[in-house]
Amino acid sequence: MKIEPANFLNGKIRLPGDKSISHRAAIFAALATGDTRIENYATNADCASTLNCLENLGVEIRREDSTIFIKGVGKNGFTKPNKPLDCGNSGTTMRLLAGVLAGQNFDSVLTGDASLSKRPMRRIIEPLELMGAKIEAEDNHAPLKIYGRNPLQAISYDLPVASAQVKSCVLLAGLNAAGKSIVLNPNSIFQTPNSRNHTELMLKYLGAAIEEKFVETGGGFVEEILIDGNSKLEAKNLSVPSDISSAAFFIVGAACLENSEIVLENVGLNPTRTAILEILQRFGADLEILNQKEVGNEIGGDLRVRGRRKLSANTDSNLVSGDIIANLIDEIPVLAVFGTQFENGLEIRGAGELRVKESDRIAAVVENLRRMNAAVEEFPDGFRVGKSDLKGAEIDSFGDHRIAMAFAIAALLADGATAISGAEHAGVSFPEFFQTLEYLKK
Ligand code: S3P
Repeated sequence: MKIEPANFLNGKIRLPGDKSISHRAAIFAALATGDTRIENYATNADCASTLNCLENLGVEIRREDSTIFIKGVGKNGFTKPNKPLDCGNSGTTMRLLAGVLAGQNFDSVLTGDASLSKRPMRRIIEPLELMGAKIEAEDNHAPLKIYGRNPLQAISYDLPVASAQVKSCVLLAGLNAAGKSIVLNPNSIFQTPNSRNHTELMLKYLGAAIEEKFVETGGGFVEEILIDGNSKLEAKNLSVPSDISSAAFFIVGAACLENSEIVLENVGLNPTRTAILEILQRFGADLEILNQKEVGNEIGGDLRVRGRRKLSANTDSNLVSGDIIANLIDEIPVLAVFGTQFENGLEIRGAGELRVKESDRIAAVVENLRRMNAAVEEFPDGFRVGKSDLKGAEIDSFGDHRIAMAFAIAALLADGATAISGAEHAGVSFPEFFQTLEYLKK
């Protein structure tokens, strides 16, 4: 994919549904009793993997563009699949479904592509085995052979990483456990969830007995999430807001190009996902939220972004680290691009999790930024990028959707054309990305 620099971005657009919320909508609709209509279901390959796996578990699904109809089977109504369930590139599909399958009365296999087969699965195998399931996985990697057990044992589990996928996996297993399971989230100085909380919000919306509380410890708080294994989910129609992680690419592009003005309609604004907006504003981007409203238990609103000639920070520090990292983990590749435009550059630390995403995103960002002439230093848990005059270059997506899209935005800001190999991987989360970029690009 060849990309020429842009003068500015302009236009009003509605992006596809949020990937994280779509996965959950489909899985929870299947677990519920009754029929669900999901509007604005994400159009991407990952969310299609979730639907395919559910169909292979005996769930009836009808697709009408981005509207999906699911006949719930109830939490014990799945049928044993007659082949491995293929999660493709999708970590969320694999980790959430593992939680569901651990509590079934049959065994099943979850597989994935080469990238997913390299990602760490110990983080879900450990709690699921503590709950009584048995999981075979060579070297703790997919394929996962899951020997389910019903009911599982309830546990109290300290999350070793701030991961919404792991948290959701344990909560879903908790739906089929005898008693109340508790997930404890690492210490935070704030009384807010430290990873995205779509699972908790949607389970509550569908009637599960789930409670969240913050318990004070020395110098901070631990988040406790309790789920009762007697919970039953009742089908309710769901509507998915647009994906803020997809929006982030255009937000950064528009913020950095003078004379830009874009409006992104009905973007998901769950506070566990809006850290990217907070950081961009902290570093001088011109953003405005309009028409905020609640749908289901989620918040959505329109986002207006205007470009500024010169970004200057409202802070002395160019360091982004600590509790906020988990809440902007998917946006860090494009934040790195933003950092090249910013007077004092940007430093990201405490983001070692990036090394075990769809690619090693620290290595991929550093390599591609260097190819574009940026001054960048690599750390085990992050990087520092200085203000740079980007030059068009040959970019490698490393098979990673967010790397492909982040560097398409870098290409807009560069001098000369950029060629991205493996650009088609954008389809994993946002198949319409390049078309949308063309539409907004002036
Ligand atoms: C996701 C959680 C995050 C994120 C991923 C989607 C989710 O992963 O990076 O793109 O939908 O729960 P971790 O929970 O593993 O950090």
